[in-house]
Amino acid sequence: MFKTKKYNYIYPKDKSNIKRLFNLLEKLSIKHPYLVILVLHEYYRCLYSYDPYIKFKISNPSKRIDVLVHKLIDFVSLSLEMGSYNIKLNKSFFFDNKDKNLEEIKKRTGNVYGPLWKRFKKINNLEAIKLLKNRLPIKDLFKNKSVLDAGCGGGRYSYAIRKLGAKKVMGVDYGDLGLKIARANYGKTKNLSFKKGNVLNLPFKNNSFDVVFSNGVIHHTTNVKKGLSELVRVCKTGGNIWLYLYSTGGIFWYSRYLMNKLMKKIPYSLSQQFLKIIKMPDNRFIFMDNWYVPIEEHCSHKDVYTYLKKLNVSKVEKFVGKNKFDLDYSLKKYKNSKNIWGEGEIRFLIRK
Ligand SMILES: C[S@@+](CC[C@H](N)C(=O)[O-])C[C@H]1O[C@@H](n2cnc3c(N)ncnc32)[C@H](O)[C@@H]1O
Repeated sequence: MFKTKKYNYIYPKDKSNIKRLFNLLEKLSIKHPYLVILVLHEYYRCLYSYDPYIKFKISNPSKRIDVLVHKLIDFVSLSLEMGSYNIKLNKSFFFDNKDKNLEEIKKRTGNVYGPLWKRFKKINNLEAIKLLKNRLPIKDLFKNKSVLDAGCGGGRYSYAIRKLGAKKVMGVDYGDLGLKIARANYGKTKNLSFKKGNVLNLPFKNNSFDVVFSNGVIHHTTNVKKGLSELVRVCKTGGNIWLYLYSTGGIFWYSRYLMNKLMKKIPYSLSQQFLKIIKMPDNRFIFMDNWYVPIEEHCSHKDVYTYLKKLNVSKVEKFVGKNKFDLDYSLKKYKNSKNIWGEGEIRFLIRK
């Protein structure tokens, strides 16, 4: 783990209202847990600069978040006045990060993601090709290359990479359900295979792949440094590593930290049922990864860059996400918005 002052980097100076809201929500989680889900659904979607499903009434993000937090404080305060029965929540999905047992973390992480991949329809999976094309720094990054997708989940990017011209793609994940879905959806694609494995101890020899791709995985392991060194180890010298990690700072990442902490008090199954009732589109269930994943580390660009340099890679380039919901896109669109999105997201192209 990195030694930065956690969650303190360019965070908004005045966090008091956000803190107040989350303190109230904690109380509400005992009386009316389904209302916490409703509130966080609204809060979370408003933290982005773009919502493809529900139009924002206030388009300026700073103003929108500020007004929303005030209104939600009122709403939650009122809800706390409403009578409730003595709800006994099913504790099967509660998780206390203090009991950090590696096997338990693995199982829980797999159990969070598996059902989310199941909800992805074929069309959502195919969107991955478009998303990737928009984000790729080099047009032919995968052309005729052997590629590892480290932490492939349901395999949407493994398939997209193969479709973007890779010679051979191997997807690795330790989540059984994700692998099952990946195999069911793409198992028949030639030169695309899936294997069970841990990204902290990849089951491959040194210098095995031309390109290593890892999208949103290493920050969910217990050891970011080990994860990075494994990606570098299995990449051939002169090959490329495409790395995506969560970054830090701003209201956005601070709120993700608070949501992740709070939602440990509300069972996964209740959120799943409630979001179904409000008819949230299937591909948006990925909201729940932040709410339930046991480990979500937020890294600074500087820490990751410095560590990669220690691994003797020859080049690290930063790239900016170009899709509408990429935080980098939002940071560029709205001036002085570091207060909201902090450092945005980490997208590095690394040359070994
Ligand atoms: C946010 S998902 C990203 C999945 C995929 N890369 C994508 O973008 O669709 C994170 C994935 O990392 C996997 N994962 C987390 N820690 C892992 C580890 N130590 N070894 C292998 N897979 C891991 C989870 O099971 C999950 O499928």
